[in-house]
Amino acid sequence: MFSQHVVVDNTELLIRKANGTKMRPIWQDKDSEIVKVIDQRLLPHKLIISDLRSVDDVINAIKHMVVRGAPLIGVTGAYGVYLAVINFDGKTGFDDFLINECNRLKSTRPTAVNLSWGVDRVKDKLLKMTNQSARIDIARNEAAKIADEEVENCKKIGENGLRLIDEIWMKKKGKTVNILTHCNAGWLACVEYGTATAPIYAAYENDIDIHVWVDETRPLNQGARLTAWELNNHGIKHTVITDNAGGHLMQHGMVDMVIVGTDRTTYTGDVANKIGTYLKALAARDNNIPFYVALPSSTFDWKLKDGINEISIEERDPDEVRYVQGLELGSIKSVLLPPASSPAANFAFDVTPARLVTGFITERGVCRATKQDIKRMFPRNVDELTSSSRRTDLSQA
Ligand code: MRU
Repeated sequence: MFSQHVVVDNTELLIRKANGTKMRPIWQDKDSEIVKVIDQRLLPHKLIISDLRSVDDVINAIKHMVVRGAPLIGVTGAYGVYLAVINFDGKTGFDDFLINECNRLKSTRPTAVNLSWGVDRVKDKLLKMTNQSARIDIARNEAAKIADEEVENCKKIGENGLRLIDEIWMKKKGKTVNILTHCNAGWLACVEYGTATAPIYAAYENDIDIHVWVDETRPLNQGARLTAWELNNHGIKHTVITDNAGGHLMQHGMVDMVIVGTDRTTYTGDVANKIGTYLKALAARDNNIPFYVALPSSTFDWKLKDGINEISIEERDPDEVRYVQGLELGSIKSVLLPPASSPAANFAFDVTPARLVTGFITERGVCRATKQDIKRMFPRNVDELTSSSRRTDLSQA
């Protein structure tokens, strides 16, 4: 596969922190054509940087979850289009080549809408262009711009979510605010700040006493491996729990709010996120605990109305369920869990219906999970979708 560099003891991460620049999970060095990514499969035990040089490298990285998390796969897809352009050999027409490469990129993972959003945004800038060096510049700049915009969006999600945490802190008269989160919706999944973690980081920076319950998030344990790694590096109090512990903690007053991310959210407010999110939302509702979903606008699917029936749920390799990975005597090992001949199923996401969501934390503010409120927050997107579906209805009549 692609070339890899091991970063011993997180040194690079710490050096960048000391320089005041944050490490991102994806970047390009100045004057280099290579796209660099953190390989998230071996965290927290090994920090490895991989080089992506071609569309095939990007496809492998997204499929095998070297990179993951909705906003990050959107950005990676955008850089994939840049790599397609620099590898264009001129043997076929450019537009056909580009559309084909973009379709290959978009088919790598089905659930997160950010992927096609990021790919199409760069593609749309390039179609019909004839000058190859201008294409390269445009593709590189647009991918970088998407990454920077997602950082800005996540920063604003942090500011908007901070108010919600602050209100709870005031109500609790300064006692620790306990927040439960699922999967990894942190900077690793989003470039910087994260979605669900952005308000948590903002609360910490504002000296609010917080503690995070981190769902381990079987089967790939993004919570135990990645969210815990992020919070630990940041010095934020947290505890890793089994995926089934949340309900019990909620019944005993040990959770003040839940914040999760999302991979695709309908314009009516249904939320697809990592498998198990729905059960947390049910438990939160039963215990009267606010359940917030944090997302940038790139994660809204402006075409979908009914999350349960219309969102495509990824089914991954059952071996991800059958095997568990961890550290033993300094090396990372994978061990078999069930009887060798037991079949397993691996549904990667589920859909939480809008009625269970207390609110969305977006870059534009906090709103309820209803079409009306989403429209108030994003009037142009919702109007465009209504007029385009009206056009489709007419053409089908
Ligand atoms: O399968 P993954 O690890 O890509 O799933 C990621 C999630 O479900 C995140 O919660 C989601 O992308 C939230 S946005 C940061």
